[in-house]
Amino acid sequence: MTNTTIDIPITLNGRATHLRCSAPTQTLLHALNAAGHTGTKEGCGDGDCGACTVALLHRDCDGITRALAVNSCLIPTAQLAGAQLVTVEGLQTLNHGSLHPTQSALVTHGGSQCGYCTPGFVMSLFAAFHSAEKAIDDAVVEGNLCRCTGYTNIRRAMAELLAAPVLHLAPLPEPATSEPATSGPATFADTPLLRRPGNLLEALALKHATPEAQWLAGATDLGLEFSRAAQHPKPLIAIDALPELNTLHITGNCLEIGAGVSLSRLQWALRGKPQNGDVDLSGHRNGLRTITTMLHWFAATQVRNRATLGGNLGTASPIGDLLPVLLALDGVLVLQSVRGERLLAAADYFLGYRQTQLSSDELVRCVRINLTGHGTRRLNESYKVGKRGSDDISIVAACFVLDLDPENRIVHARLAYGGIAAVPIRAMSAEAQLIGQIFRPELGQMVRPMLEAAFNPLTDFRGSAEYRKRLILNLFDKFLAEMGAQL
Ligand code: FES
Ligand code: FES
Repeated sequence: MTNTTIDIPITLNGRATHLRCSAPTQTLLHALNAAGHTGTKEGCGDGDCGACTVALLHRDCDGITRALAVNSCLIPTAQLAGAQLVTVEGLQTLNHGSLHPTQSALVTHGGSQCGYCTPGFVMSLFAAFHSAEKAIDDAVVEGNLCRCTGYTNIRRAMAELLAAPVLHLAPLPEPATSEPATSGPATFADTPLLRRPGNLLEALALKHATPEAQWLAGATDLGLEFSRAAQHPKPLIAIDALPELNTLHITGNCLEIGAGVSLSRLQWALRGKPQNGDVDLSGHRNGLRTITTMLHWFAATQVRNRATLGGNLGTASPIGDLLPVLLALDGVLVLQSVRGERLLAAADYFLGYRQTQLSSDELVRCVRINLTGHGTRRLNESYKVGKRGSDDISIVAACFVLDLDPENRIVHARLAYGGIAAVPIRAMSAEAQLIGQIFRPELGQMVRPMLEAAFNPLTDFRGSAEYRKRLILNLFDKFLAEMGAQL
C-alpha cells in the first residue's frame, strides 16, 4: 500500500492542471476540497444527496462538447486522469465572466437554497443544459435533495432554462500531457493500487496475474467504500474507459450492450437520441419496456451517468435492479478472460448471495438480448417498489414478459423478481402454468398458489416478509391489469 501523493492530470474549469490526491482512491470530492475547491460540498458521502455534483465534459460524435453530472463523492480521483471537469466555481469562467444561464435562472426565480444544496442543483442543471437532449425536467434533479424548502422555484428556473436558446460550450484545452500516474504496464508491483489499462487484453492479463484485484467500472457501488476510507485494501483495475466494453449495437436480431456502457447511454439510445455512435433503439422501445421502465427508476441521473450493466452484474447484489430484467429477457452474458470467451445465460450466473459463476480472472464483456420474441406479440413491463422514487433501493423489483400467439395464447412466460432472496429469481412453476393459457387479467388468481409457494422472502428494515409476499402477488396482478387494458 502506498502513501505517496499522486498528481492526476485533468482539465479543471477550463485550465489544464494536476489535481493532487493522497491515494488513488481518494474521492474526487475530497481531492477538490483539499485543493481549495470548496464550492463542491459533502452532504451524505453516499451518492444520495447530490451536494457534491460536478460535471464531466466530453466531445460527442457531432463535435459538440456535452456535460454529464456525476457524484464526486464516489469517484476515485485517479480514475479521472485526462478528464475535463467543471465545478461550480468554474461556471462563470466558462461563460466568459458572466453568470451561467443556470445560475441566472436560479437567482431570478429565487431557487437558491442553502450553501450545501445549491451548488449541487446548479451543477445538475448546468449538465442538463449542456446535454444532448437539453431535457430539463424533474428527472435531472431527482438526485439532488433538499429537505427544508420546496422545489417550486427551482421548477420555475428549469422552465426558463428549457425555453432558453441552446448554448454550446467552447472546446476546452486538453489536460497536461504527462502520463496519468496510474496508466501503464500490466503490473501492480511498483505502482499505485489503481491501474487503468488501455485495452481489454491488458486488463485481462493484469487480472490474471493479480486475481485478488477488483474490477472498477463506474464506482457507483465500490465508491461508497472510497468515500469512507481513501485507501482501499485491494488493487483495482479501472475498466470504465476500455473501448471494447463501450459499444452498444445490434447484430442480426441481437442487442449487444457493452459492460462499460453507462445506463444513461442506454436510456438515450432507447429515447432515440443515441450518443457516442450507439445504435438507435427507439424502434425497439415496446419490446424493451422492461429495460426502459427500470432505467427510469434506477437511481438518479448522477448515478446512471456512471453506473453500468457490467457493474450491476459484477457486484451481483440481489437488489441490483437490472438483474431481474436480464432474467426476464433471457439475457446471455459474454464472459472473457485470457483463456478466451464463454457464454452464460443470466439465469445460470448467480450462485448465492453476491456469488456468481465469474472466475477470479474473468470479466463480463457484454450482455446479449435477443430482440425477437417467441410469439406475435410481446407484453412486458417492470415494476419497482421502494421507500422513495428513483433514488432508492428496491423492496421488491419485478419484471414480467409474456409472448402471445395470434389468438392471445401465452407461448412464453418470464416472471422475475429482485430484492426478495439472496439472488434475483424467477417464478418457474408459475411460468410453466401460464403456458398455453389465453391471456386474461384473471390469470393472477390461477398462479397465486404457485407464486405464494415459490418464494420465502426476507424481512429487513425495508419491509417484512409478509409485505414482500403481497408485493410479489400484487405486482403480477397489476401487470395483468395494465396489459389487459392495452390489449
Ligand atoms: Fe451526497 Fe455526494 S455527498 S451525493
Ligand atoms: Fe439545503 Fe434544504 S436548502 S437542505
